Amino acid sequence: MLNTAIKAARRAGTVIVRYLDQLERLAIETKGRNDFVSEVDRHAEAEIVRVISGAYPDHGILAEESGHQAGNEYLWFIDPLDGTTNYLHGYPHFAVSIALKRADKLEQAVVFDPLRNELFTATRGQGAQLNERRMRVSRITDLQFALLGTGFPFRAEKHLEIWIDTFRALLTQSSGVRRAGSAALDLAHVACGRLDGFWEIGLSPWDIAAGALLIEEAGGLIADFGGGQEFLQTGNVIAGNPQLHGKIVSLIQPHLPAELQR
Ligand code: IPD
Ligand code: CA
Ligand code: CA
Repeated sequence: MLNTAIKAARRAGTVIVRYLDQLERLAIETKGRNDFVSEVDRHAEAEIVRVISGAYPDHGILAEESGHQAGNEYLWFIDPLDGTTNYLHGYPHFAVSIALKRADKLEQAVVFDPLRNELFTATRGQGAQLNERRMRVSRITDLQFALLGTGFPFRAEKHLEIWIDTFRALLTQSSGVRRAGSAALDLAHVACGRLDGFWEIGLSPWDIAAGALLIEEAGGLIADFGGGQEFLQTGNVIAGNPQLHGKIVSLIQPHLPAELQR
């Protein structure tokens, strides 16, 4: 199943890279404010779905552009291009994200960065790899030396003030905060130790699913805002290495209203 996910992610990566030198000719639609979709997103997703449904016709699929296809106890989460805004500007930080859940457990994960040719993979219970070499979360224990990632709540403006409060708390306590623009790739960068932690409000399950298993299998922690495991449902995540995760949670929690405590 991991091999199928890898094959699908690489096919999507080929589509994404092929269109990169013709960005100005791409057909782009707006799904909502600040929410764009291009023919590349759709074409890459079609490639992924073709590979996965070809191999596992009974599995369910939840894909960003084509939605939900019901199936058996297996469910694939697909974000064919995470970081579309970056991509449309030629800003080099975006990725393909594919994960497989069985019943309520994430089992397989792939995040593929086609520009750096970096393939992040994990299978539950078998560790996580970057280009087939074992990867681990960072070992920094002092938040003061930590580099954190985040995402702006740029579509859900109702969360902006809350996010600014969490940002103020974490910026002043850490060594820096980056907003790179692809949640899936940012989570993969936590898994391989380039970032020491990450938080974002209001993500979708296909942004998080693969990155979450990568982090767990690389020895890190990921939780929803209440410290629970409902992040695929709530879309709110705090991730980090095990020494820092609790510290990040305790700096964020005081700023959260009741409805964001999970
Ligand atoms: C977005 C990216 C971004 C995050 C947004 C996501 P998309 O995904 O992951 O970093 O802040 O919340 O929706 O739309 O580029 O697939
Ligand atoms: Ca996404
Ligand atoms: Ca996307």
